[in-house]
Amino acid sequence: MSFTLRGLAFEDIETIGRLENELFPTDAWPLEMFYTEFFQPDTRRYIVAEVDGAAVGYAGVMVIDTTADIQTIGVLPRFEGQGIGRAMLTELLDEARRRGAETVILEVRADNPRAQQLYARFGFEQIHTRRKYYRDGVDAWVMRLVLAPAEGTA
Ligand SMILES: CC(C)(COP(=O)(O)OP(=O)(O)OC[C@H]1O[C@@H](n2cnc3c(N)ncnc32)[C@H](O)[C@@H]1OP(=O)(O)O)[C@@H](O)C(=O)NCCC(=O)NCCS
Repeated sequence: MSFTLRGLAFEDIETIGRLENELFPTDAWPLEMFYTEFFQPDTRRYIVAEVDGAAVGYAGVMVIDTTADIQTIGVLPRFEGQGIGRAMLTELLDEARRRGAETVILEVRADNPRAQQLYARFGFEQIHTRRKYYRDGVDAWVMRLVLAPAEGTA
């Protein structure tokens, strides 16, 4: 199976909303949130992973000053475990570096070891726990990565 990554287009948003409901049944973003994010390209970048022309994953980052925040990342269950998550996170971290970020933070459910392990492999460390952060009462881990400078900018 091969996949490609590209920037999120306005026309993708309804599809991404459907993926969101499938991937995050208790914490899904309303569709308006994706539109709001989409229309802030100065501080946001969203990408879509495609297989055979269909969106199977998406991810986004916000960068303000020197701090980046991974807003979301998800891959449909039948396409997991094939490197799409890793590729999207790599792309978002590259984008964060290009935009001058020095640190990256994210929140992840305390009961989501798979995502935590993905982040840990990139060097993210848990720095804080937000008690009962999610709608169903589950804690959030706040994880942080200190970025190495982009090549050629040191
Ligand atoms: C977390 C998530 C984005 C990872 O996406 P993915 O495409 O499966 O990730 P990858 O295929 O790049 O795999 C990442 C790592 O997980 C490992 N992995 C593969 N299958 C796995 C499995 N069944 N269980 C645990 N780890 C697995 C891979 O070996 C890979 O390790 P590596 O980077 O050392 O090679 C995806 O599982 C997902 O969308 N989960 C539901 C939504 C979610 O929880 N999002 C995160 C919110 S904070």
